[in-house]
Amino acid sequence: MSQPSPSDTPRLVVCAIAGSLRRGSYNRALLRAAQEVAPDSLDIRIFDRLGDVPLYNADVEAEGDPEGVRALKDAIREADALLIATPEYNHSVPGVLKNAIDWASRPPRGSVLAGKPAAILGASPGMTGTARAQSALRQAFVFTQTPAMLQPEFLLGRANEKFDEAGRLTDEGTRTFLKQFLLALEAWTLRLRD
Ligand SMILES: Cc1cc2nc3c(=O)[nH]c(=O)nc-3n(C[C@H](O)[C@H](O)[C@H](O)COP(=O)(O)O)c2cc1C
Repeated sequence: MSQPSPSDTPRLVVCAIAGSLRRGSYNRALLRAAQEVAPDSLDIRIFDRLGDVPLYNADVEAEGDPEGVRALKDAIREADALLIATPEYNHSVPGVLKNAIDWASRPPRGSVLAGKPAAILGASPGMTGTARAQSALRQAFVFTQTPAMLQPEFLLGRANEKFDEAGRLTDEGTRTFLKQFLLALEAWTLRLRD
């Protein structure tokens, strides 16, 4: 009997979202680096349409999800896991990311976020590497019942020194750790499936 080849093994789809609309975002660059270093078993798809998600409004929602919201929910629904790269704004999650999570958390029963394995990471030019924003995001994920991986934690401080002008993650130690982090997310996702 032949052994299954790696190509026979279904890849886990990871919906990756950066909480920044900025062209030169370190957090989006971190997700691109994740695509580069990911094991073959992970298919990391960057959802890059947060700018199309309007501000949450229950009146708008009552008329049906706007197209950008549907795209967001579809991307999360189709994924086996979430990878969220959050910037830190004023010690918390940037509004664009929180707003997207608020939309995705609806309806409370049957939300695409409920039960979806997730990993949180973040990059900041500051020393604390988005520690407080990540804590705030974990708090939101308690309510949405999104099981966020506990360890390892990925906090990239002094991000301005870790990428080149083209936005490529050049710090070898960070690249190595990012790969370990993704392997941990894979294990977390499979564990929650069983
Ligand atoms: C409104 C605002 C608030 C910020 N607050 C913090 C903060 O609390 N902690 C921090 O480390 N950086 C803070 N920053 C700096 C961001 O970490 C920095 O702009 C970072 O590059 C944003 O992520 P991005 O590169 O993915 O866009 C703040 C930036 C803005 C615009």
